Amino acid sequence: MATTTPSTRPRSSARFPNPGEAGKVSRDKRTRMYIGDCREWMAKLPKGAFDLVFADPPFNWKRDYDRNLTGHAWDDAQPEDDYLGFTYEWLDLAAERLADHGALWVNIPDTWAAEIVVHMKRARKWHLVNWCVWHYRFGQNTKSKFINSKVHALYFMKDPAHAERRWNPDAVAEVSDRRAIYGDPRTENKKDDWMEAGHRVPMDVWYGQYWGRVQGNNKERRHKHDNQLPEVYLGRVIGACTDPGDLVLDPFLGSGTTGTVARYMDRRFVGIEYSPANAEHAWDRMVTKGPYRTEALDNQRGVSTAIHPKRAGL
Ligand SMILES: C[S@@+](CC[C@H](N)C(=O)[O-])C[C@H]1O[C@@H](n2cnc3c(N)ncnc32)[C@H](O)[C@@H]1O
Repeated sequence: MATTTPSTRPRSSARFPNPGEAGKVSRDKRTRMYIGDCREWMAKLPKGAFDLVFADPPFNWKRDYDRNLTGHAWDDAQPEDDYLGFTYEWLDLAAERLADHGALWVNIPDTWAAEIVVHMKRARKWHLVNWCVWHYRFGQNTKSKFINSKVHALYFMKDPAHAERRWNPDAVAEVSDRRAIYGDPRTENKKDDWMEAGHRVPMDVWYGQYWGRVQGNNKERRHKHDNQLPEVYLGRVIGACTDPGDLVLDPFLGSGTTGTVARYMDRRFVGIEYSPANAEHAWDRMVTKGPYRTEALDNQRGVSTAIHPKRAGL
C-alpha cells in the first residue's frame, strides 16, 4: 500500500445516484462505476463534491470503441464542431462537480489542447496551473513531419490560492540533476526550503522508467485495451493533487487506470465508462487485481529522471 498520511480534512458527504444495473459499487463503498454517457451521469452527480477530476477523453481519432448498452459504438469520427461541442459540455459538467479547491486534469493530444485551454481560461475563467507534457519514445513513425512523441497533461484550478488546495510536492519529489549529474554540494546543504537535500518537484515534462506507452509487451497492458495510461502517470497526479480519503472522478474510465491507482492509494473514486465491456474489465482491475507497478507507486519519491550519467571529475 502506498504510504501517505491520512487527511484530517473534512470528507465530502455527498450522496451518489444508485447505478442499478448500469454500474457497480464496491462493498466498502470507496469505488463506484457508472456505465453510459458521462454527460448524463455527471449531471446526476453532486456538484462541488470532488477533489480531483482526471479526464482522458476519446480523441476523435476514428477509434472503434466498444459497443454501448444499446449496441452502438461511440462515434469517434465526429465533425469537428460536434466533437468540440461534446468536449465543452463534459468540461463544464466536470468543472461543476469539483469543490472550489479542486483540480481538473485533462490528458489530450496536440489536436485539441489549444481549444481546451482557451475554453477553460476564457469561458470558465479558470487558471492553467501547469501545462505538462507526457513524453514517450515510441511515437508513430512518419517521414512527412516530426514524429509526435507527447500528449498534454493540462492542470486547471478554479482557485489555486484556495486554503484547502491539495498540493503534496513532497510525495512525488525527485532527485535533482544537481545531485544526480553534477554532484553540486549546494543541493546537499539546502537550508532555505522545505524539500529534502538533493530533491526537487518534478519538472513539467514527464518521462522515464515505466512512463512509456502501454503497448506491446508492457506488463501493465490489459487485454483489448490500446489506450491505457501508465500507472505512474496517475500516481503522480493523484499523489500530488489529493490526500488519502479524497474523492476522485474519471468520466472516461477506459481500462480503469485512474480508479485502480486511486483505490490503491486509498482515495475514494467514481468512474464513468460508455462501453460495458471496458467497464467490466476496469472493475475487475480496480477492485480485484489492483495495479501492476505497486513498487513504483510506493516509491515515487526519490527517483531520478536525469538524462546524462554523473559527470566525471565533479
Ligand atoms: C482514451 S480512453 C481512456 C483510457 C484510460 N485513461 C485508461 O488509462 O485506460 C477513453 C474511454 O472513454 C470512453 N468513452 C467515450 N465516450 C464516452 C462518453 N461519452 N462517456 C463515457 N465514456 C466514454 C471510451 O469507451 C474509452 O474507454
